[in-house]
Amino acid sequence: PSDTGRVLSIQSHTVQGYVGNKSSVFPLQLLGFDVDPINSVQFSNHTGYPTFRGQVLDGKQLWDLIEGLEANQLLHYTHLLTGYIGSVSFLDTVLQVVDKLRSVNPDLLYVCDPVLGDEGKLYVPQELISVYQQKVVPVASMLTPNQFEVELLTGLRITSEQDGLTACNTLHSAGPRKVVITSALIEGKLLLIGSHKKTEEQPPEQFKIEIPKIPAYFTGTGDLTTALLLGWSNKYPDNLEKAAELAVSSLQALLRRTVEDYKRAGFDPSTSSLEIRLIQSQDEIRNPTVTCKAVKY
Ligand code: ATP
Ligand code: PLP
Ligand code: MG
Ligand code: NA
Ligand code: MG
Repeated sequence: PSDTGRVLSIQSHTVQGYVGNKSSVFPLQLLGFDVDPINSVQFSNHTGYPTFRGQVLDGKQLWDLIEGLEANQLLHYTHLLTGYIGSVSFLDTVLQVVDKLRSVNPDLLYVCDPVLGDEGKLYVPQELISVYQQKVVPVASMLTPNQFEVELLTGLRITSEQDGLTACNTLHSAGPRKVVITSALIEGKLLLIGSHKKTEEQPPEQFKIEIPKIPAYFTGTGDLTTALLLGWSNKYPDNLEKAAELAVSSLQALLRRTVEDYKRAGFDPSTSSLEIRLIQSQDEIRNPTVTCKAVKY
């Protein structure tokens, strides 16, 4: 592990606003990575707006780009990062990409945000769930589901912290050494729960971070969280707790700035979905002050 790396990031692109690659590429670059984005879709804006227009990349088109890179021996990556994927055929091609990249670099880390839905609502086709369960989770190095996604992947209901830890254990036994439940609302508290299975024999090291809930709705924050977790875990490969503290603390500073900027411009931040102030928060991304501490289980 070194303090720099080269990331292939297969995620959404929006012309306006920050989700998918738009909320991951810049922060990873700030943390010192070379980032090669493949845009799985190009939309005018994110899907939370009243309408959107644009194009969707299919599995064949993704593979074409991979073959182009391969023909020039440009497939050496330290990390693969994936987020929202809208179809089984695209997800199957992503699995082929994992194999291909590992044939070039057997140590490639695959950081997978298994985007399925949120707050009880599925926003991908139902068939994707079993593909994630059976084929994707087993090859992921780090998985960053939210509470609803953990439930869909494990079939367990998460209503207590213990449920969250049990679900992390279930996911570890399916493959990934690092599991981070990026947000879970448990007994009225917003928590991030992390779990690092360092060796086959020992139980995982597990922790939580309580996050002060801001009364506003943001988009792009899940994608940003996964990118920051990738970035900081590469600097601290044996300390997922520290990586998560840094990621959450950066994000909180960015969200506070976002809310303040909206208020200053005369908007009520609790009434609309907010675009994050990513570029304006570059100092907090590069040099976060740890304000949110992890608590070990
Ligand atoms: P995914 O994008 O995979 O569905 P997710 O549902 O966890 O993941 P978010 O709900 O955006 O994504 O949460 C990710 C992180 O963003 C949380 O860990 C938290 O740090 C921060 N966050 C998002 N919304 C808020 C909020 N209203 N108040 C405080 N922090 C928030
Ligand atoms: N990708 C696209 C195209 C979107 O429209 C959205 C949200 O609307 C996302 C990704 C997800 O963003 P988040 O990081 O908030 O989960
Ligand atoms: Mg969420
Ligand atoms: Na997530
Ligand atoms: Mg999300």
